[in-house]
Amino acid sequence: MSLPESRVFAEAGALVTALADAVCAEADRAIEARGVFHLVLAGGSTPIALYRELAVRNAGDVRWKIWFGDERCLPPDHPERNSCMAEAAWLSGSPIPPENRLPIAAERGAEAAAADYTATLAAVPSFDLVLLGMGEDGHTASLFPGHVWSTAPGGPAVLAVHDAPKPPPDRVSLSAARLSDSRSVWFIVSGAGKSEAVTRWRKGEALPVTAIRGRNETLAWLDQSAWGTSVSA
Ligand code: 6PG
Repeated sequence: MSLPESRVFAEAGALVTALADAVCAEADRAIEARGVFHLVLAGGSTPIALYRELAVRNAGDVRWKIWFGDERCLPPDHPERNSCMAEAAWLSGSPIPPENRLPIAAERGAEAAAADYTATLAAVPSFDLVLLGMGEDGHTASLFPGHVWSTAPGGPAVLAVHDAPKPPPDRVSLSAARLSDSRSVWFIVSGAGKSEAVTRWRKGEALPVTAIRGRNETLAWLDQSAWGTSVSA
C-alpha cells in the first residue's frame, strides 16, 4: 500500500499550525456527533511542536479522551517517556482532566502493561483520530520492520515489544489493527532524515507505516524536507 493522501508544507511551522487547526476541527466534529473525542497521541520528538501549539491554544476539555499509541518501558516520570513528553508539552497545563489522560503503564514491564492496556481499551469504541510519527526505517508507534505488527482485525490490541532497534529495547505498542480501528489516522513526518523512508513508502514497500489505515481517512502530513521533492503532493 503506497503513501496515503499527503499534505505537504514548505516548512515545519506551517505544518504545525495547519495540524493544530485540523485536530481541533476533528474534535469539534467528533464531539458534535458523539459527545466525546478519542485521540491517540504519537510519541517521539516530531509531535512535540504540535502539542505545544495545542497548549498555546488551551485545547481540550472534559470531552477529550487521550490515549497513547505506544510507550517506552521506562519509569513513569522518565523524560524519555512519551507520556511525560506529552504531559510536559501540553496535557499537564490543559483543561483535559487527569482521569481522561490514559498513559500506558509501561513501567510495569511490556507484558503486564500490554495486558493492562488491552483490558482498558476493551471498553473503548473506535478512536476518532490516531496520530503517528514515522522513523527513518519506516517504523511507526513501536511497530518495527521484521517484528509482528498484528494487522488482522480481532487480533491482539496491544503488543509487548522486545529488541526494538530504537532505544529503549522494551516497549509497548498498540497493534496495527487497533491503530486502524479509528475514523482517521494521520501520520506526521518532518525532516530530511525521513525522506528516504517516504520514498520507499511512496513506492509501496511493505513497511509498518503501510499496515495502518483509518476507517474513513488516512493522511500524511509532511514538510518539504521529508517529502524530498517539490512542494506539490
Ligand atoms: C517512539 C515513537 C516512534 C516515533 C518515531 C519517530 O516512541 O519512539 O512512537 O514511533 O514516532 O521513531 O521519532 P521522531 O519523531 O523522534 O523522529
